[in-house]
Amino acid sequence: MNLKDLYIDFFKTKGHKQIPSAPVVPENDPSVLFNTAGMQPLIPYLMGQAHPYGTRLCDYQKCIRTNDLDAIGDTTHHTFFEMLGNWSLGDYFKDESITWSFEFLTKVLNIPKESLAVTVFKGDDTIPFDEVTYNKWLSLGISKDRIAKTVTDNFWIAGETGPCGPDTEIFYFRSNDEIPITFDPEDDRWVEIWNNVFMEYYKNEDGLVTPLPKKNVDTGMGVERTTAILEGVNDNYLSSIWIDVINLISNISGLKYEDNKESMRIIADHIRTSVFISADNAGIKPSNTDQGYILRRLIRRAIRHAFRLNIDINFNWEEQIARLIINKYKDYYKELIDNEQVVYDVLKQEKIKFNRTLEKGIKEFDKIVSNLDGNIINKDLAFKLYDTYGFPIELTLELAKEKNIEVDTLGFKDKFLEHQEKSRTSSQGKFKGGLAGNGEIETKYHTATHLLNAALKQVVGPDVHQKGSNITQDRMRFDFSCDHKLTEEEKNKTEELVNKWINDSIDVKCIEMKKEDAIKSGAECMFIEKYPDIVTVYTIGDISKELCGGPHVKNTSEIGNFKIIKEEASSAGVRRIKAVINKN
Ligand code: ALA
Repeated sequence: MNLKDLYIDFFKTKGHKQIPSAPVVPENDPSVLFNTAGMQPLIPYLMGQAHPYGTRLCDYQKCIRTNDLDAIGDTTHHTFFEMLGNWSLGDYFKDESITWSFEFLTKVLNIPKESLAVTVFKGDDTIPFDEVTYNKWLSLGISKDRIAKTVTDNFWIAGETGPCGPDTEIFYFRSNDEIPITFDPEDDRWVEIWNNVFMEYYKNEDGLVTPLPKKNVDTGMGVERTTAILEGVNDNYLSSIWIDVINLISNISGLKYEDNKESMRIIADHIRTSVFISADNAGIKPSNTDQGYILRRLIRRAIRHAFRLNIDINFNWEEQIARLIINKYKDYYKELIDNEQVVYDVLKQEKIKFNRTLEKGIKEFDKIVSNLDGNIINKDLAFKLYDTYGFPIELTLELAKEKNIEVDTLGFKDKFLEHQEKSRTSSQGKFKGGLAGNGEIETKYHTATHLLNAALKQVVGPDVHQKGSNITQDRMRFDFSCDHKLTEEEKNKTEELVNKWINDSIDVKCIEMKKEDAIKSGAECMFIEKYPDIVTVYTIGDISKELCGGPHVKNTSEIGNFKIIKEEASSAGVRRIKAVINKN
């Protein structure tokens, strides 16, 4: 049995219900591009809302972290990974959580406790040393020398604001060296495999930390690392998760893994992540913004590394790799089957586009060479080829060599690093927003979305259905099926109706019911297959009824004045409304 199944089965015996993996693109949280942890889709419940599955949950969640692409290529980092998680929503706390983690590791996975070490929260000005956790580990037989007390690494929060708390991280000694008696978390032979967060606080925008209504447990274990450990390999890519992908790349390129590990790892990693992004029901396509930009960068970077391996780019290598990946994961993630062809098309189209850019780049290269005043392509020109034409430096070097021309590679490297630093800072900015998506203003917008959906049905017709939505602190965006541009009259009537409902001060109610009953009762919902068997349904008087995870205001009067600022085409048969509410 593989790790995912062992984990889920174990936590089921401890009273946990398995919940489905949420999509990689978060639905109600515009402040992050991708789900970066198992807890992310559970934030409303960690904040106190009742979960339809109860207070003990477990799952495997698709996660994507792309803020440090340069780390990819080593033995342990991946842009996509699966996170195993078990949660207590105000149910058990430190004692059971640690006991079960220890039991799972030592009894189910048979990891000797001598290979384990842990960190615990040392305490700071506001939150005390986590003595309970420290003593619990001692009582389980982890020696004092193997328990490190730290501050920064032992307080977990996703982003800047949200539910948070002290944590305890579990490490495994992944090396053939003799295990040192004393654990040093900085020694990278110790690999973190599990993180148990005792989420009992909430941190707001001002940095103020206050207790949550309930004490929760949030845990995360990386499937890739733990699998590698269980299989006794010191390189994740040699584990059963990756080895056949590496072998395929090796066959395609005719090179051995040892010849260029870095490029093979990058291709494997980036193609897998691109498969999961493009198979997501959100329908992300390569573009120059947000998730689409990440997808574009990943595919192009994979292609650049395919060049390094001398793979014939026109041959369908990317589809072969994607097909293998889909086959490996299809039993766990149905969307890979549903959107299989979409994935191949996305990869191929982007490859064709990139190739065209390359062609233009070659023309530019020839121009540069014919205008050259000397025998060297300077750093600015080399960087222009890279930045504007997506030209890998290796390619510039290769072409230059054919013409007996030199390239200022050192100068290029400096410019490249400078540029990288800039883009890293800006991409971190994007992630900084953290999980602000459940603030007061977003909650108001969220309820306004339901009202707008209902109003459009009344004004435009019952065939209007939601196709997407996106909320920021400043506006809401709502996509809906509709075959025509709304008339001024339709727009005005819709706006008036939403404002009337707001002025009517209607209560917003949340009930739990079986999915089939919810559908029978006519509740609206975007992707029915995505919901669990028991669902939460939000009703607003008899105006609106939608399957939804919330959060929402308690009464429509809290929303404020609603105003449509734009109505435009989104895609074929889909219109888009942008609207604001005044913040009072
Ligand atoms: N949310 C915690 C993490 O991602 C478990 O490490």
